[in-house]
Amino acid sequence: MSQQREQWGSRIGFILAAAGSAVGLGNIWKFPYVTGNNGGGAFLLIYLVFAVFIGVTIMLAEFTLGRKTSLAAVGAFKSVGKNFTFIGVIGVLTALMIMGFYPVVGGWATAYIFKSFTGLTSNPEIIGDIFGGFITASVEPLIWTGVFLLANVLIVMKGISGGIEKASKVLMPLLFAILIIISVYGLTLPGAMAGFNFLFVPDFSKVTSNTFLAALGQAFFSLSLGMGCMVTYGSYLKKEENLAQNAMIVTALDTLCALLAGLAMFPALFAFNLEPTAGPGLVFIVVPMIFSNFGAMLGTAFSALFFFALVVAALTSSVSLLEVVAAYFIDQRGMKRPKAVLLVGAIMSVMAVLSSLSLGVMAEFKILGAGVFDFLDLLTDKVFMTIGGVLIAVVVGWFVKKEELRAELTNGGTIKFALFEVWYFLIKFIAPIAIAIVAVMGIMDQPLKELMIAGIVFMAILGIFSRKL
Ligand code: TRP
Repeated sequence: MSQQREQWGSRIGFILAAAGSAVGLGNIWKFPYVTGNNGGGAFLLIYLVFAVFIGVTIMLAEFTLGRKTSLAAVGAFKSVGKNFTFIGVIGVLTALMIMGFYPVVGGWATAYIFKSFTGLTSNPEIIGDIFGGFITASVEPLIWTGVFLLANVLIVMKGISGGIEKASKVLMPLLFAILIIISVYGLTLPGAMAGFNFLFVPDFSKVTSNTFLAALGQAFFSLSLGMGCMVTYGSYLKKEENLAQNAMIVTALDTLCALLAGLAMFPALFAFNLEPTAGPGLVFIVVPMIFSNFGAMLGTAFSALFFFALVVAALTSSVSLLEVVAAYFIDQRGMKRPKAVLLVGAIMSVMAVLSSLSLGVMAEFKILGAGVFDFLDLLTDKVFMTIGGVLIAVVVGWFVKKEELRAELTNGGTIKFALFEVWYFLIKFIAPIAIAIVAVMGIMDQPLKELMIAGIVFMAILGIFSRKL
């Protein structure tokens, strides 16, 4: 059964799609506030080391496995060994869980396109109160979350190659451009240097094992790793493409975007005398404040454009997550695409409603100490994706023959991959051990470690039972 597999039209098409999956709320919403919460410079440095040494290594392993087998995540793992099917299944579950909170934040960003027209003020307290009041309300954020999810469903139902791809070709560069404008402007504000130093001068006294796990989880989340997403993308990649180069380009673009977001936020934040630990509201407070200084017309225009571009960046990411879950029902459960997408969309809506309400009226409802939003957020990047990373490294490093990997990475010997031995050593020994150590030490040090341990137990049980899938 060797069907001709659908492939990316062009090299740039693949890079845009993979970078589109990687660049999203993780870079612009999450990265700045996680960096702020973890003390700044030292976190950034650890993040960069992880992105380069572990991120590129795992991404390359995912691309290689995907292209070698020409199968999406579940099938790709299954074809290495039946006992590994569960890694793909965990990936599908992880995608579902991320989509339990991602659309909530996507909804906030959508709302802020419109709030840009009314809500710009340079008073930090008012801006903070507007954000806090908005996300804890019961109805309004749900409407925007619904809008965002609906866009996802429509896009995935119609196929990704249409409007969203064209829109992202224009809007991703625009997002970069606006981030550069904000950064340059922010750096000229009085007091901005303190923010610059916060971001780039490491203070190691703030580093704990939590910092390492936060940095590693952020790297996995931001690069879309550890759950088979890049395996699936790799399966569509042409045989003559250079896998290593692609992995490096995608990682570089994603990291650059996160750095720019940091540079756009922190100097301005310090200039405005705000706290770097502002939390998940950071971007929604700092960006409107910056633009309020641009004057009514220009400020509104920039702010609306910024959030519009952010929504599109978020959509190109969330669409990849919805697709992973829908593809499971289509490929493995024989469902028709529209039915699968609607079913998955419905499950995600319920989860998203619960996550959104957990920030307001449902604040008292906790699962092992965490509200629904935090539960999903914590379990995915810090537990499921890091453990998923260990499993992927072990499968590729220990269960696929070295010569097969070499052949795949050099396109059957037709191109050079000078760092093959280095990569092989990293994926076989360094990556799995380093990720496991960071994950175990970090989890033991978490306030909510019972929750995380329960997550790992659940993964193990799933592993045992999904052998029959
Ligand atoms: N990387 C995306 C972001 O930074 C989120 C995302 C999309 C993702 N697809 C993923 C995360 C797959 C993990 C796995 O916003």
